[in-house]
Amino acid sequence: MTRGSLLVDHIGELVTNDGRDGDPLGVRRDAALLIEDGQVAWTGPARHAPAADRRIDAGGAAVLPGFVDSHAHLVFAGDRAAEFAARMAGERYTGGGIRTTVGATRAASDDDLRATVGRLRAEMLRQGTTTVEIKSGYGLNVTDEARSLRIAAEFTDDTTFLGAHVVPAEYADRPDDYVGLVCGPMLAAAAPYARWIDVFCERGAFDADHARAILACGQAAGLGVRLHANQLGPGPGVQLGVELGAASVDHCTHLTDADVDALAGSDTVATLLPGAEFSTRSPYPDARRLLDAGVTVALATDCNPGSSYTSSMPFCVALAVREMRMTPAEAVWAATAGGAAALRRTDVGRLTPGARADLIILDAPSHLHLAYRPGVPLIRQVLHNGVPR
Ligand code: NIG
Ligand code: FE
Repeated sequence: MTRGSLLVDHIGELVTNDGRDGDPLGVRRDAALLIEDGQVAWTGPARHAPAADRRIDAGGAAVLPGFVDSHAHLVFAGDRAAEFAARMAGERYTGGGIRTTVGATRAASDDDLRATVGRLRAEMLRQGTTTVEIKSGYGLNVTDEARSLRIAAEFTDDTTFLGAHVVPAEYADRPDDYVGLVCGPMLAAAAPYARWIDVFCERGAFDADHARAILACGQAAGLGVRLHANQLGPGPGVQLGVELGAASVDHCTHLTDADVDALAGSDTVATLLPGAEFSTRSPYPDARRLLDAGVTVALATDCNPGSSYTSSMPFCVALAVREMRMTPAEAVWAATAGGAAALRRTDVGRLTPGARADLIILDAPSHLHLAYRPGVPLIRQVLHNGVPR
């Protein structure tokens, strides 16, 4: 018996994501899980459970890995509820509202921004998210991009420099100069706080040439590549991402057969963000088509004040099942192991020995209930690094 060990016992259904026996979720029934030093030390049948210092009785409930939300824009000020209301009354989403949030974010104090990230991070944790990626992208000048990332880095290791979110108003008639700023002084100020670089590659934001130039600078500075691609219409983003070895291309709402083929032949993850289609009343991406082609799919919230102001991975799982033709098992995998793959992380998204002890105890006997009982608070308890939260 190790000091400080914790046994989660009487688990009705344990989702390990170990992929054994052709079951991606690696479900074990009547199981137990031992935690030592913040990591999973052992899993197995409850009747073989080792002794431990402390014990949590799961009471026959389902236990699964904490959600890995690999795409979130949490550093911002203000909200855009009126823009949402206008959309629900028939207006189209164009991304034009990003500049509204940029104005509010630049005017906010560090403490205000930190409080917003903290509030949303806590909201996520209550809903089972134990790993989150956080992007900049509402500063769009050297000072405000760097401080956005500095604040994001207080909450996660997976910080992403999104200076190329849109061209800010003051550069509207000289986008080449803005790309020069992003690749030069802005990247230099952001890189110490960032693990990733991202570009919104879309009509009205950045074209393929600008996106390629910016991502190449980021790679040269040691950052990994991810992309917002093919959200509002077909475009070059997905294939550019594959060409550059991106960890993930995100949105993937409008794909050609060539885009799907490119993804299927790569190790780039397709991250789907159904909260964005929900909140912009747009057609959902076709997850079934990607899965059937052999593409690795992740689900994330895209939490941001414009296109998807949800922090809830269970909501995204339910949307993915109902609207995107994913099975509940595929959606749960995509929200856990898929998110980890999108962040190139092997320490999270699974509950096997050596993994970080990030787990959810559901108020339900099975992972199926996440989609079967949409909108119901089913997260009974969350353990993060082995610590009950
Ligand atoms: O992922 N598409 C670009 N960026 C965000 C939306 C940002 C906003 O509207 O404020 C997204 O949907
Ligand atoms: Fe986004």
